[in-house]
Amino acid sequence: MDPEQLAALRTPDGVNALATAAELAGGDPLSAAATLRSSGVPADLAAAALTQAELRRRAAGKFGADAARMFFTRAGLEQATRSVVAGRRAARLRAAGVRTLADLGCGIGADAIAAARSGIKVYALEADPGTAAVAAANAQVLGLDDITVTHGDATAADLSGVDAVFCDPARRRAGRRVFDPAAYSPPWDFVAALPERVPRTVLKLAPGVDHGLIPPGAEAEWVSVRGEVVEAAFWCGPLADVPRRATLLGAGEYTLTGTGQAKAPVGEVGPYLYDPDGAVVRAHLVAEFAATVAGHLADPEIAYVYTDAPTPTPYARCLKVDEVLPFSLKRLRALLRDRGVGRLEILKRGSALEPERLRRDLRLAGPSAATLVLTRVAGAPTALLCQPLGGDVDTS
Ligand SMILES: C[S@@+](CC[C@H](N)C(=O)[O-])C[C@H]1O[C@@H](n2cnc3c(N)ncnc32)[C@H](O)[C@@H]1O
Repeated sequence: MDPEQLAALRTPDGVNALATAAELAGGDPLSAAATLRSSGVPADLAAAALTQAELRRRAAGKFGADAARMFFTRAGLEQATRSVVAGRRAARLRAAGVRTLADLGCGIGADAIAAARSGIKVYALEADPGTAAVAAANAQVLGLDDITVTHGDATAADLSGVDAVFCDPARRRAGRRVFDPAAYSPPWDFVAALPERVPRTVLKLAPGVDHGLIPPGAEAEWVSVRGEVVEAAFWCGPLADVPRRATLLGAGEYTLTGTGQAKAPVGEVGPYLYDPDGAVVRAHLVAEFAATVAGHLADPEIAYVYTDAPTPTPYARCLKVDEVLPFSLKRLRALLRDRGVGRLEILKRGSALEPERLRRDLRLAGPSAATLVLTRVAGAPTALLCQPLGGDVDTS
């Protein structure tokens, strides 16, 4: 969206077109466009209003009720931090004494909004003119006077007057994800040097970021929302509390911390298996998690934890292990047939097997459901037939 389109959507005619488009969002786009046109809305405005209404509808998952008032670009919404994650980060910055923050590459403003709501004055910079205009409009419609949005290049920013810096570099180019940090925008060499300029720096990165990029002395945090790992954040300088942190949000807030270096004990496959949340695994906190349930691994390289008794935990799914067998398609097929398993959830760690192909090869039939875990035990390919405890089975 360019700034002119945004301005048109904010005129009285644009507001009316958006209100009509919001009622039609989610239905057939062609008939929605025809309805708007037939009520006298010019084609350009009708198209912009319908796009915006659709983006607002999709944004509700990230922004809740605010989405209906905010403006979005497609790329800006995809890259925006969910409000539950941004709000938590902002609260932590405020609690650390941050009163002024530079947000370098603010996108549509999700992190800036959360920071301002926590009582932080935000200087937001955005290189794309349309996106900068959207961020400014969002600050305005949400009544956040403490956000100043400037269209400009973060690499030229004067950072001398701020308490802290936040940077969430773009990791997409022409709609595609980029994995090479040198291709981030702003590029990694600029981003990585920020803590030398402003010690209280927070960097947001993709969950798959290489641990080798963690700045010296920084805290590396992985965040999941309802089991989906959504980001890594590096808390630099005085903002670092611990070497590694896993934060689980959604149904409450749970935090596990540690060094990221500890090794869990290794033993036999036990009667209960825990599949740790992705944030715990990515943060290299499996040993710390295992300690919370008095568990151990069955293979030093595989992040499944086993115990003799089930312990309720927010950090992992727990399954009861019914059968342990060396992997063999024939034996597995026979076992599942004997048990009448027609619906099978397949989990894997340390196995190269393709679950969907295996599912076809197993020729499932029967009324029962089960979970199959494909893994390695002491280096050997192993299948574990399990039943989840206290959770739904995804057998799709
Ligand atoms: C990942 S998005 C930020 C999303 C934001 N944190 C949010 O939650 O809404 C990165 C943004 O940085 C902007 N950007 C990239 N290079 C920049 C630069 N050199 N200066 C300023 N902004 C830049 C991109 O246009 C993009 O909007």
